[in-house]
This record gives sequence, C-alpha cells and structure tokens, in this order.
Amino acid sequence: MAQPKYITHLGMVDILPDDVRKWQYLEQLIRTEAELFNLEEIRTPIMEQTELIVRGIGKLTDIVSKEIFSFSRGDDNYVLRPELTAPVVRSYVEHHLEQRGGSQKLYYIGPMFRAERPQKGRQRQFHQFGVEVIGSDDPVADVEVIAFMIHIYNKIGITNTTLKLNSIGDPESRLSYIKALKDHLKPDYDKLSEVSKERFNKNPLRILDSKEEEDQPYIESAPLITDYLSEKSQAHYKLVKTYLDDLGIKYEADPYLVRGMDYYTETAFELISPDLGSQDALAGGGRYDLLVEEIGGQPTPAVGFAAGMERLFIACEELGIQLGDEKKVDVYIVTLGDAARKWGLSKLSSIRATGSSATMDYKGRSMKAQMKDANRENARFAIIVGDHELESGQFTFRDMIGSDEEALPFREILNRLGK
Ligand code: HAM
Repeated sequence: MAQPKYITHLGMVDILPDDVRKWQYLEQLIRTEAELFNLEEIRTPIMEQTELIVRGIGKLTDIVSKEIFSFSRGDDNYVLRPELTAPVVRSYVEHHLEQRGGSQKLYYIGPMFRAERPQKGRQRQFHQFGVEVIGSDDPVADVEVIAFMIHIYNKIGITNTTLKLNSIGDPESRLSYIKALKDHLKPDYDKLSEVSKERFNKNPLRILDSKEEEDQPYIESAPLITDYLSEKSQAHYKLVKTYLDDLGIKYEADPYLVRGMDYYTETAFELISPDLGSQDALAGGGRYDLLVEEIGGQPTPAVGFAAGMERLFIACEELGIQLGDEKKVDVYIVTLGDAARKWGLSKLSSIRATGSSATMDYKGRSMKAQMKDANRENARFAIIVGDHELESGQFTFRDMIGSDEEALPFREILNRLGK
C-alpha cells in the first residue's frame, strides 16, 4: 500500500470504528456509575491560559517545564490542557460554583495533551476520566474518591491492582521534610543521577520518584516524609486509612510516593497494575487543599483523581477482558430492482421507529453481494424484497443466525421487531 501523504502527529492516535465500541462502553459505564456516586459531569475547554497551568501545576514540574503544548495568538497564550484539575478549579472559581451549596462532586472524561516521548501506555494525546470533589476537608471525601476509582476497575474486572497511599502533609510538614531530605542527599550529591541532580534544587521531593539505579541506595536510606507530618496531617492520614480498612479497600502505604504536580497536600495515591509494563500507573490523585486559593478563589479544600483510559484498555487486553459488543445491525433490507430499492429506502425509518437498527445497500449491488454484505455487517435479520414481494405484500423475513425464512406482511415484521 502506498504511504499516505498525511499522518497523525507523533503520539496522537486515531480511535477507529473497530476500536470505538470499547470507548463507548467505558464512557457509558463511567457515566452510570458516576450517577450512583452522586457525581455531576463538568466539561471545560481543551485550551486554557498558560498562566493557569503554570501556576496550578507548578513551574518546575516536568509537565510544565517540558511537556506542555503551547502557542500564542495576539496577546493571548494558550496551552492544550495537560490535565483537568487546574482547569476544573478555574471553572469552579470563575463560575462561583460554591454558591450551589455543599461540596461540588464533579467528574469528567476527555482528552489531555502532554509532549512526552511516546511509548506503550504513554501518548501525547491521551484520555482521562477523573473526579474532583471541591469543598470538603473530610477524609470521607478522600475515601469516596478512592472508592469510586477502585469501583470502576472492579466493575470491569481489573482487580489485580495495588493502591499505593501516602501523605505528603501540609506545606509546613513538607518544608521541614524537604530540608531533612536535602541534608541527607547533600553529601552524596555527586553520585546522584543527572535527573536527580537537576531535581535537587528545583523539586527535591521528586527525587523519591527516581527510577535510576544509582539513586536507589540514597532513596532507600532517606528519611521518610511520614515521620515529618504535623499532628493534623497525621490525624487526617490515619482516618483515611481507617475508613479504607472499614470499606475493605486494600492499600500499601508507600512513604516514597510523590506525585508530579506541585498542588498536592496531604493524601496522595496511585493505582498500579502489573499488566502495564514500565508505565504502570492506571490512575493517580490526592488532595490539593491550597489550589483553589492559589488560582484566586476562597480557601477551599479539595481532593480528586484521574485515570488513564488507554492504560485501562492495555490492562484489559493483558487480562483478556473484552469491553463492548461486536458491531451489529438488527435489520438489513436486501432489494432486487429499482422499485424494491425505493421501497426499502422508505421503510428504513419505520423499522428504526421500533427501536431496531436498520440499513441497506448503498452501492446498487447484486442480491448475492447484498446478502454477503448483510453477513459482514453482522445483521440479525434480512428483509428480502423484489417485484414479486411488492406485488404480493408478503416479504421474506430471514433469520440470519438460524437461516429460517418466512413470508410476512411488513406490518407483522414490524410487530416482531418491536417485541
Ligand atoms: P497524573 O498522574 O498526571 O494525574 O495522570 C493520571 C493518569 O493519567 C496516570 O495515572 C495515567 O494513567 C494517565 N496518563 C498520564 N499521562 C499519560 C500519557 N502521556 N499517556 C497516557 N496516559 C497518561 C493527573 O493528571 C491529576 N490531574 C490527577 C488528579 C486529579 N489529582 C487530583 N485530582
């Protein structure tokens, strides 16, 4: 086959018709389950102001310093959203959603953009579903958010996951920990990996996330953030764990878990799957009690998570889980001759009105080719029409699975389809 002239950008993927059914299935599942958890959908624009993303996520994070797609037009700077927490908070503040009363319990589904080096489970345009609960500092909110996340994977049958849990405390706890961490690493600074050397000044907490071999001895012997938590942070973390225990949600406390955005406070978590390879995080989230204020709103605590949809599908493939039905159509009208073709076209809408899907040949093909096409389309029934059928008012109604045929008036066919 000739090389096409135009192809997608690196790391951007078309979702083709053969694949789209599993997307639709997952999206529907998320919507149905979100209703059960009393979550409401929010949709925000694909583009945001660069300033929002830089302030929200943090200037020195990998996402902002290396991965955002941005451009300007006139005096305006745009960025393709790399995540939705900062945009949802922007929307909350802009539209005074606090005036609706109570906590805002929001969910979203949509594309995000990060200019990362593509590999399995890592794309430049990828999709997330996620939840943001804005307006509660109660550990109940943390646990409900985690429970929803786990619930979706359980519903699908992805159960061999590990929930990693940590608390990175309030800003004061974190500052004293960062000092202790830097004091610990300083004598061995020269032996750290280049990435960690860079992070040492810019974002020292992220050193804990290093996968580089040469960093591991220094990470393993590092002080633990959980030993630096204030009493309030300790109490919050303890309650989160107690409630998770009460719900029977298993977790692994991981004092090395730090997340990639600066907005996090207190609870941080990730859901890991052994079926994903090196990009093993299915989902991640945590509290961000200072972000609303950072973006210009009133001090408002919040917690949320986001999950990578492509990674969920990779896990499904590994586990042999098929999502969504095969493509099919209820009725294929097979016609012979012009009059039958006209009749067929006019009857499609009556069939569809019974709630059955219906199609016919668009290419003027032979009856044999049409029958073949009906099989290819996975048609449940065929209605076969020629001049003879039009005259007699009796149409051949063929069961494409059992191969039985009956001659029936069109009204009777509609009756049967309606059942
Ligand atoms: P995140 O950990 O950056 O968190 O992303 C969440 C999930 O999105 C990851 O666990 C992964 O499954 C998926 N993901 C991230 N980058 C890619 C990529 N390049 N290709 C494919 N999948 C990817 C956030 O985005 C936070 N906003 C989560 C959050 C919500 N925290 C509080 N509320």
